[in-house]
Amino acid sequence: MHEGSNRPTDNRPTENCPTEKRVCLSGTGVTKVFGAGSRKTVAVDHVDFSFNEGEMISIVGESGSGKTTLVKMLLGLTSVTDGDLYFMGKKRDIRTRRRKKAYWKGIQAIFQDPFSAYNIFKKIDSVLLDCVHMRGGRHLPHEEKIRMISEACGFVNLKYEELTNKYPFELSGGQMQRLMIARIFLLRPKILLADEPTSMIDACSRATILDMLMKLRAEEGMTIVFITHDLGLAYYVSDRLMIMEKGVIVEQGAADEVILNPQHPYTKQLLSDVPKLTEPW
Ligand SMILES: Nc1ncnc2c1ncn2[C@@H]1O[C@H](COP(=O)(O)OP(=O)(O)O)[C@@H](O)[C@H]1O
Ligand SMILES: [Mg+2]
Repeated sequence: MHEGSNRPTDNRPTENCPTEKRVCLSGTGVTKVFGAGSRKTVAVDHVDFSFNEGEMISIVGESGSGKTTLVKMLLGLTSVTDGDLYFMGKKRDIRTRRRKKAYWKGIQAIFQDPFSAYNIFKKIDSVLLDCVHMRGGRHLPHEEKIRMISEACGFVNLKYEELTNKYPFELSGGQMQRLMIARIFLLRPKILLADEPTSMIDACSRATILDMLMKLRAEEGMTIVFITHDLGLAYYVSDRLMIMEKGVIVEQGAADEVILNPQHPYTKQLLSDVPKLTEPW
């Protein structure tokens, strides 16, 4: 690690880690254009990237830089205007409903606004049961399903008994955000896309959510793509940083390198907003 850096390093795989890095998701020339003519917006502009198994990557950029659009393309929630995506070494094919559902076993997301993520007419019990069923647990005995759900709630410090028979809107924002992570714990996707998951909650819950993401990565070997406008936070949690400006990845590299030796003016500008980052505590 470079001198002057103050990130926690203990839970990160080191460079001499014996396990070989395998690419799980990658893309070339990935582009999204909204509208046409004078109303045309190039939200994501020929982006190339490659995420390794078990890696924590942050995509950092100001509001409007195309981060959410990129996440939606990666998930298959919005079409790709141009470019290619590869999942587990093969060109991604989600042209049928069935293939899309299979793809979503491997890749899941949590979004900024937890309220929008739930069907408000569905009780929490059934939201979590659906996750067990999605992972092939439909035929398990009921007690086993409840045991798995309770374990997932425990992982995010929620008590299952306190959630039964409740609707998502009866929870606080922080509880809902944790419930989203409990879903991820049950679904165990290979890749988790976390799009500003901490921006709607208080600082204390924010730290908890970040800890949980790091724990998922450490315990499950999940690849986590963390989307944020906060370069300081991104540096704190990730192995690798990708800096996005107006739809373009202007710089990417190991977190330490990008922060301690930024090359692009936009990265330097973002860095100047977090002046204490590379100074000792
Ligand atoms: N559905 C849409 N229709 C038209 N323009 C959109 C749509 N979604 C996003 N955009 C535009 O694409 C650009 C990138 O937006 P977004 O991906 O939400 O950025 P970020 O998540 O980094 O804030 C913005 O200019 C936004 O106005
Ligand atoms: Mg966004």
